[in-house]
Amino acid sequence: MKKQRLVIVGAGSTYTIGMIMSLIAEKENFPLKSITFYDIDKERQERVAKATEVILKEKYPELEEFKYTTDKKEAFENVDFAFIQIRTGGLSMREKDEKIPLSYGVVGQETCGPGGMAYGMRSIPDMIELIKDIRKYSKDAWILNYTNPAAIVAEALRRVFPNDKKILNICDMPAAIMVSYAKILGKEIWDLVPEYFGLNHFGWFTKIYDKEGNDLTDKLKNHILNKGFVPEDAEIANDKSWIKTFKQVETMIKDFPEYLPNTYLQYYLYPQKMVEKEDPNYTRANQVMDGREKRVINLCNTIIKDQSIENVHLEADIHGRYMVRVAASLAYHNCDIFIVIVENNGIISNLPDDAMVEVPAMITSHGPKPFAVGKIPTFYKGLIEGQLAYEKLVVDAFFANDYDKMLQALTLNRTVVNAPVARKILDDLIEANKDYWPELK
Ligand code: NAD
Ligand code: G6P
Ligand code: MN
Repeated sequence: MKKQRLVIVGAGSTYTIGMIMSLIAEKENFPLKSITFYDIDKERQERVAKATEVILKEKYPELEEFKYTTDKKEAFENVDFAFIQIRTGGLSMREKDEKIPLSYGVVGQETCGPGGMAYGMRSIPDMIELIKDIRKYSKDAWILNYTNPAAIVAEALRRVFPNDKKILNICDMPAAIMVSYAKILGKEIWDLVPEYFGLNHFGWFTKIYDKEGNDLTDKLKNHILNKGFVPEDAEIANDKSWIKTFKQVETMIKDFPEYLPNTYLQYYLYPQKMVEKEDPNYTRANQVMDGREKRVINLCNTIIKDQSIENVHLEADIHGRYMVRVAASLAYHNCDIFIVIVENNGIISNLPDDAMVEVPAMITSHGPKPFAVGKIPTFYKGLIEGQLAYEKLVVDAFFANDYDKMLQALTLNRTVVNAPVARKILDDLIEANKDYWPELK
């Protein structure tokens, strides 16, 4: 097996240590020659890198090289894979994305509604620049992107790099949900075969099979309706906010029993309830800053001080393992099935070809080979078309610097609807994002 050279972009991320543990857990499936870290924030990256050095020395002694840098050439030269996980504007801008809409009684969320739009407008230029830079130094590398909002990023990259078939956008949510399904069914996530369709953070599982072809969908629905639904993956299992979110799946299945929903649909189907449960002065961004971010900083500091991992608890999570398994399937033509974000081109036959859809695909060394979904029923089609139009308008607005298109996008979004409210939120977001967004005409 050829050993791979990997660069992690945005290596100061709160998810990097989990990714490193996942690379260690998956080293038989995805053996590495080298890992390089790249970030624009030297200090943030250095802490994670120094802790990673200690972890790798203990758990991955056969790795030939580990380095970290803020120099693009050094980072991107001669790599086989780039995993991207940047957050333009950091968690402090996420806080504004959430608080501004909430102050108008509208959903304030990282990737959904106005917050997602604001974040998208910040992510697009950085992502375009990064792809160009990676391509300058490594023409053939696989670029796997986790950067959010994945739907909007994927649409922008599709437009700018139409011929680049080695960029793949991924979301960990379907996998995190499948970890909970697997637990209910007494199986491993890798034993399950999903059927799924939608947009990123806007989709449904239509079937869950095991590898023998047994249909487990009804068993899952009944379990969720009778016994509830909880997050099981280590990263989110004990998080109050995620526990509430998974609980909402029960309500969604009661109201719409046909399919098993992605958790993110709660923001579109119950926007009022989502607003009511939020504290507009202490949102998810605050929880993450006081929770995951602090936890990771303390973890890294302890490892660096001890020069050992004996006093910390480290675990691979589904976020990391999913990305690594997709990479392995691309590298070694495993032909495993993963839910990924690809250009529609007839997969969902009653949606436009140029939609970026989230569907299962066989992942080969020639890229993802998505399975046909066919026609989807009117309810889902209607919901998706509205959301798709919003996503397209955001990207249109970005490239045309067009205020009116942004207003159209926000008004179309199910979390907003009301035009005067859309305008107020938009005007506040423009002010908050003046260091990031293009100037709108
Ligand atoms: P974070 O702020 O902790 O880390 C992001 C890192 O990216 C920071 O160290 C920052 O300095 C760096 N960065 C910012 N702009 C950069 C640029 N232009 N080039 C290089 N580095 C840059 O954020 P986080 O909470 O760990 O999340 C990281 C990203 O992963 C976010 O986009 C988040 O939304 C995304 N995410 C996606 C999924 C998914 O399902 N697709 C799941 C989890 C997280
Ligand atoms: C899931 C989604 C990601 C999102 C993350 C936010 O993993 O798939 O797209 O970024 O949740 O989680 P947080 O704990 O930061 O709110
Ligand atoms: Mn996601």
